[in-house]
Amino acid sequence: MTHFLIREKFLNFFKKNNHVIVPSSSLIPSDKSVLLTTAGMQQFKPYYIGELDPISDFNSKNTTSIQKCFRTSDIDEVGDESHLTFFEMLGNFSFGGYFKKEAILLAYEFLNKELNLEIDYVTIFDPSKVASDDWRKNVPEDKESFEIWRNLGFEESRIKKEGIDNFWGPTGNEGPCGPTTEIYIKNKNNQSIEIWNIVFNEYFCDKNKILTPLKTNGVDTGMGLERLLMICQNKFNIFETDLFDSLLKILPTNLDQKIKRIISDHIKASVFLIADGVLPSNKEAGYILRRILRRAIVYEYIYKFEKNILNNLIYEVIKIYKEIYSELITKEQAILEEILKEKEKFYKTLDRGLKELKKRPEINSKIAFYLYETFGLPYEIIKELGGQKALNLNYDDFKKEFENHQEISRRGQEKKFGGHGLILDTKELKASSEEEIKKVIRLHTATHLLQQALREVLGNEVRQAGSDINPERTRFDFTFNRKLTQEEIKKVENIVNQKINEDLPVNFVEMKKEDAEKIGALSFFKEKYPPIVKVYFVGSKIENAWSKEFCGGPHVLKTGEIGKFVIQKEEGIGSGIRRIRAIVLP
Ligand code: SER
Repeated sequence: MTHFLIREKFLNFFKKNNHVIVPSSSLIPSDKSVLLTTAGMQQFKPYYIGELDPISDFNSKNTTSIQKCFRTSDIDEVGDESHLTFFEMLGNFSFGGYFKKEAILLAYEFLNKELNLEIDYVTIFDPSKVASDDWRKNVPEDKESFEIWRNLGFEESRIKKEGIDNFWGPTGNEGPCGPTTEIYIKNKNNQSIEIWNIVFNEYFCDKNKILTPLKTNGVDTGMGLERLLMICQNKFNIFETDLFDSLLKILPTNLDQKIKRIISDHIKASVFLIADGVLPSNKEAGYILRRILRRAIVYEYIYKFEKNILNNLIYEVIKIYKEIYSELITKEQAILEEILKEKEKFYKTLDRGLKELKKRPEINSKIAFYLYETFGLPYEIIKELGGQKALNLNYDDFKKEFENHQEISRRGQEKKFGGHGLILDTKELKASSEEEIKKVIRLHTATHLLQQALREVLGNEVRQAGSDINPERTRFDFTFNRKLTQEEIKKVENIVNQKINEDLPVNFVEMKKEDAEKIGALSFFKEKYPPIVKVYFVGSKIENAWSKEFCGGPHVLKTGEIGKFVIQKEEGIGSGIRRIRAIVLP
């Protein structure tokens, strides 16, 4: 059964059952609270919450689609048997047309009758499996789905009860969500894999994770096309199906299996992203595209592929999908050009990245992560090329480093930025890549060092009068009544760089506001502080810390992460107020 046939069977089955076929929407969603389309339901969000009327738009309360999706959440798992970044999702949707019983019966009938597949087991939502402080804790157990499966002849042991894995949504900050029932089927390896997720949209979840019942119940289902094909085509993994096998054949035969899979997934995903208008950049979806594209390019560079291999992969992706997605034909030229441009650009940093790797006497997880983040070198490449120097490098430590970094980004995204009034408001943060958030955090700590250095050079009358940090630079305003000399500027810069070289730890303690004032922590007169404040300090102990400031964070963990500090400009901006603009370099 080819992928064409499965597509046709799916859409026709739901059409026959009173659904209107809707084309896939773009990978760039109209819902701006998410970067990329990750699920079939996204284009239908307004219909679930009553913002739009399905009857006027589709002349039906039920729709079906095959949606292009992209998920970064699975990026590290690409290369195993069943994970991808780009995939397609078969789905049927209802906005007040039908609910649990019909949804389950339709799924059952499609798998059983149309495809002759046997369900291994199913799962349903059970709040007793949910942590007591979780926002989904008060959602009742899905007894109705349990009964429906029982009536279809499923013994109790084949209806497993799960917690938050059986609750879906919302996508983005808010939206429809609800309990799910999932269908598992055994693959050729005799392992059960999740094949179909049936979501019952019963609630609206707001930004504060408060649930309110929706006016009309909705159904949203999603079944990964590639996984379904793997089962129907009786393959051990998704890469042996007709959506991948011709791609893998283009790659050198002696190349590691996992690398082949990663390259084919990443090139395919890049082709689709570019076709939908994403371009490589350091922001938003552009940054995601850059990461996956560069990963494929590193392999090309390292393994010295013949010149045309990547291009042949691009042509093959277009060939596989062009009858379904005509944008691939119209955008072919643009896709080839953009990938070539990115390749040329990356080859420059790639060289530097590889030199940097050679230069390092030892490669620990921190350095490995730096090479990964800055030059896009993947872990496997670092480990492989690092040889003896990377002997102690292991994936767990690297991953920890990664998670640490994600934690920092998360803290950044939660906008716990106090004191310095960073411009990283939620809106802007969404517009920032992780790379940018990291840069702002480095600049933020550098700004603390700058304030203390200014006080050392110019005297303690220097106080913060304002500050503004974006990924490009920090801008620090302070009280002082004359222009600084070149010598003074150099001195300040040197002190900051010296503190960076000392690689001092940065920590915080929470204490009473009066106590913080007593120990001389610097506060910002324009800000009103609560009775308990956070004091960030640079040094191992707060008692003898070199810099202490009232601040909400976040900061780097060690000053060495800041890099090189450079003052670009010093000027007056009003009586008694000076302004310094400074940047940090890697
Ligand atoms: N929205 C659900 C999912 O993505 C079902 O389509 O799994």
